[in-house]
Amino acid sequence: MVTWSAPGKVFLFGEHAVVYGKPGLAMAIKPRVFVTVRKNRHPTPAKSPYIDGCFKAMGVTGSVYVNSQMPSSSGLGSSAAVTVATLSAINDEFDLDRTREEIALTAYQIERAVQKGRASPTDTYVSTIGGMVLITGQSRRKIPPQNLNLVVGNTLVSHSTAKMVELVAEGQRKFPDVMNPVMEAMGALTLSAVRNLSNPRQLGQLMNINEALLEVLGVGHPTLSKLVIASRNAGAFGAKLTGAGGGGCMIALCPKHMKGRVAAAIDACDARAFITSIDTVGARKENDA
Ligand code: PMV
Repeated sequence: MVTWSAPGKVFLFGEHAVVYGKPGLAMAIKPRVFVTVRKNRHPTPAKSPYIDGCFKAMGVTGSVYVNSQMPSSSGLGSSAAVTVATLSAINDEFDLDRTREEIALTAYQIERAVQKGRASPTDTYVSTIGGMVLITGQSRRKIPPQNLNLVVGNTLVSHSTAKMVELVAEGQRKFPDVMNPVMEAMGALTLSAVRNLSNPRQLGQLMNINEALLEVLGVGHPTLSKLVIASRNAGAFGAKLTGAGGGGCMIALCPKHMKGRVAAAIDACDARAFITSIDTVGARKENDA
């Protein structure tokens, strides 16, 4: 029996623009999902299509116990983390010798199958290798990690990534002359952010610009705006929605001593805040039993 864990993720910059081949920046974050796998020839079927997909892809059978500290369906990549941790644990328990790259790719294929072709490789890749990843088209480059003081605010408003991606596509089809430069600017924001990673004040300002452009794309939500404004008023350097938008989560970049205050300001808006930081490890073994 083995236990592996894998982290969630946030988009720091460039969500939606990455769908159009522009650069985006994602980061693995705490908390983690823990998955224990045990060999078992006659397991009871798992209730999750992701977990079933993992056993099918690896060609073995076993039983699973999942312990998640991450809210699901909020754009923090919890399904990717469950898939990555399950594949890593199966790989270990059955001595299958898959590399990290192979685990990341298989996890992506499972997500894509379960989500009917609508997954991007970002969540599974970032959860597998951890740290900060610059995504441009098909390329994913790990960049030197920075310790950012982040607060995540969950609006508790459910959203659909597929719907948001479609909404943006519609706008892009209707007004290409307007939307293409917006995508271009989002890509430029990401590259500017990579150059300014050690300067949180500048990064915060870039986040605020990114938030405004996401609003232009139509993926904002009144509750997201409320949390973004509350965070800025409470002392954050900057704040924006993260992921698909239309609900889900936002992030605020804060001075170290302001994290608690920003989290409290978010909580006071009837949302759920948690303080987080970068996870540089990705999928990791927890114990042998
Ligand atoms: O819903 P999330 O947090 O997994 O983010 C979706 C990000 C998009 O750029 C909108 C879509 C994608 O696949 O990259």
